[in-house]
Amino acid sequence: MKTKNSNICVIEHPVVKHNLSVLRDEKTDGEKFRCALRRISYAVFLEATKNLQTQKKTIKTPICECECEKIKEDLNLIIAPILRAGMMFCEVAQEMMPQAHIHHLGMYRDERTLQPVWYYNKISEAPKDPKNTFVFVLDPMLATGNSAVDGVGNFVKKGIPQENITFVCLLAAPQGIERLSTTFENVRIITCAIDKELNAKGYIVPGLGDAGDRIFNTTR
Ligand code: URA
Repeated sequence: MKTKNSNICVIEHPVVKHNLSVLRDEKTDGEKFRCALRRISYAVFLEATKNLQTQKKTIKTPICECECEKIKEDLNLIIAPILRAGMMFCEVAQEMMPQAHIHHLGMYRDERTLQPVWYYNKISEAPKDPKNTFVFVLDPMLATGNSAVDGVGNFVKKGIPQENITFVCLLAAPQGIERLSTTFENVRIITCAIDKELNAKGYIVPGLGDAGDRIFNTTR
């Protein structure tokens, strides 16, 4: 489903909704959480990659020759997980785009200011062919939008057109969508739901808690 802003896509699918309920449930343990997130990730990345250009290829089936389509070979695909929760999304993204480069974006959220603090961003050079570069920035939670803006901005600074950048999340707060889509109007946002609001600590409400803690069993 598209919202009024045509760059925002909310995936409406019964399997996604079912698994999102599993993720939201505080009783769901780490193993079940990771399985549900993985199932949703396939739906999310099918949507995220749906505009990638293809090229015609003639192949031979066991029966005869036929003309097929494959993802264009000269596309430079970058999967950019925001550490650490983005890593869980990254596994499925890499499975679906094995040719992609992985660019880890290491930042954590200062709990007082809610601003991102960078600690890892290794690849400094700009891509040789920005117009043919497509980036998928991954973070399950689009909350304040501060990390998302920094993550996406990292690629915009390198000359990659906003239209080629997709921000992929699981849950979004209206504030996060507003911040990201007003800073970068042409970046696509894919989410499975838009929740009500943020609480005073910057958590999405109703949300699912701290995604990283639930994925990595670090809930205190
Ligand atoms: N990060 C999370 O893990 N959860 C939230 O609700 C917001 C940011």
